[in-house]
Amino acid sequence: MDKKFIFLAILLLETSFKVANTEPTEDKRALLDFINNIYHSRPLNWDEKLSACSNWTGVTCNHDNSRIIALRLPAIGFRGPISSNTLSRLSAIQILSLRSNGISGPFPSDFSKLGNLTSIYLQSNNFSGLLPLDFSVWKNLSVLNLSNNAFNGSIPSSISNLTQLTSLSLGNNSLSGEIPDLNIPSLQLLDLTNNNLTGPVPLSLRRFPSSDFSGNDLSPENSAPPLPPILPPSAQPSKKSSKLGESAILGIIVGCCVLGFVLLDIQTCKSIGQEAAK
Ligand SMILES: *[C@@H]1O[C@H](CO)[C@@H](O)[C@H](O)[C@H]1NC(C)=O
Ligand SMILES: *[C@@H]1O[C@H](CO)[C@@H](O)[C@H](O)[C@H]1NC(C)=O
Ligand SMILES: *[C@@H]1O[C@H](CO)[C@@H](O)[C@H](O)[C@H]1NC(C)=O
Ligand SMILES: *[C@@H]1O[C@H](CO)[C@@H](O)[C@H](O)[C@H]1NC(C)=O
Ligand SMILES: *[C@@H]1O[C@H](CO)[C@@H](O)[C@H](O)[C@H]1NC(C)=O
Ligand SMILES: *[C@@H]1O[C@H](CO)[C@@H](O)[C@H](O)[C@H]1NC(C)=O
Ligand SMILES: *[C@@H]1O[C@H](CO)[C@@H](O)[C@H](O)[C@H]1NC(C)=O
Ligand SMILES: *[C@@H]1O[C@H](CO)[C@@H](O)[C@H](O)[C@H]1NC(C)=O
Ligand SMILES: *[C@@H]1O[C@H](CO)[C@@H](O)[C@H](O)[C@H]1NC(C)=O
Repeated sequence: MDKKFIFLAILLLETSFKVANTEPTEDKRALLDFINNIYHSRPLNWDEKLSACSNWTGVTCNHDNSRIIALRLPAIGFRGPISSNTLSRLSAIQILSLRSNGISGPFPSDFSKLGNLTSIYLQSNNFSGLLPLDFSVWKNLSVLNLSNNAFNGSIPSSISNLTQLTSLSLGNNSLSGEIPDLNIPSLQLLDLTNNNLTGPVPLSLRRFPSSDFSGNDLSPENSAPPLPPILPPSAQPSKKSSKLGESAILGIIVGCCVLGFVLLDIQTCKSIGQEAAK
């Protein structure tokens, strides 16, 4: 009797320990809270009784199944906003793809808690409003795709803090204002097409083809070939030298006139002065 009870207790303890150890229980709860609070036209096989790591569509866990590190749910037919305090609890997530849905509302501000994100794919949704002001919270961000939404306002300059960024896609939104100086050497892909951006293309981004900027209201400088960054200081001496040229010509005329009074008549002096001015 006693032996049997102890054996059963050990078995129970062992299985419950195993389940707790092989399932990211908190992350799973966060996903259920997310899915239960957003309309989706395609069903998802997210059965609470099954393993999120091995059986749930779109979910990827880390090596020991203790955390969810990627969520890919493209074209599930989501409609409406993402409820706060749901996906933002997936604190270990690195890849988030919710592309090609009908998600609306602002960029979820609580995503700022997801500091391990390396890739954000939210393109082709119905997001609107301003972009997050402080991008420096995603230190490891490499791919940011927010194209085909209704984001407005300006492009935050804090994007320039993303030293790992390789791809930035903001095309087909309603972004306005000037393009900030995004001096990011790692950046390889840029798409700012079809917005309402104005002003010049900053020097740091002139290495990208002009097609990356089409469909905006940018000043014509952007069609000029890349200019060396030393241009503004070097423009001053050239202005100075043209001023020097002017005073030199004036000197020739004055000197000639003084000489002219002595040697030549005024008419000859004038014509020499005109020749010098040419
Ligand atoms: C859950 O995943 C495991 C491992 O891949 C598999 O053996 C099992 O058949 C799956 N169960 C269901 C109901 O899909
Ligand atoms: C990144 O993920 C690790 C677990 O893999 C976690 O401990 C850490 O808190 C996460 N960092 C942030 C900023 O959320
Ligand atoms: C996007 O949102 C607007 C209103 O903000 C709505 O009229 C439109 O139908 C939505 N489009 C999609 C694809 O959900
Ligand atoms: C970023 O990446 C580095 C190196 O891969 C890693 O050590 C770090 O935990 C990641 N997360 C954050 C929030 O920096
Ligand atoms: C970003 O999304 C657009 C669709 O709007 C797609 O054409 C493009 O290839 C994507 N870029 C990256 C780097 O994922
Ligand atoms: C952005 O759009 C919202 C409506 O979605 C509007 O209230 C707001 O004034 C716009 N902001 C800018 C800077 O255009
Ligand atoms: C970059 O991040 C630092 C802090 O990490 C912040 O002080 C600075 O303002 C940020 N730069 C921009 C352009 O936002
Ligand atoms: C913007 O929309 C047009 C027309 O729908 C499409 O051809 C183009 O690929 C879109 N651009 C991006 C960056 O998704
Ligand atoms: C750009 O701004 C003008 C008004 O300033 C507006 O009529 C137009 O719809 C805007 N275009 C986009 C793509 O937001």
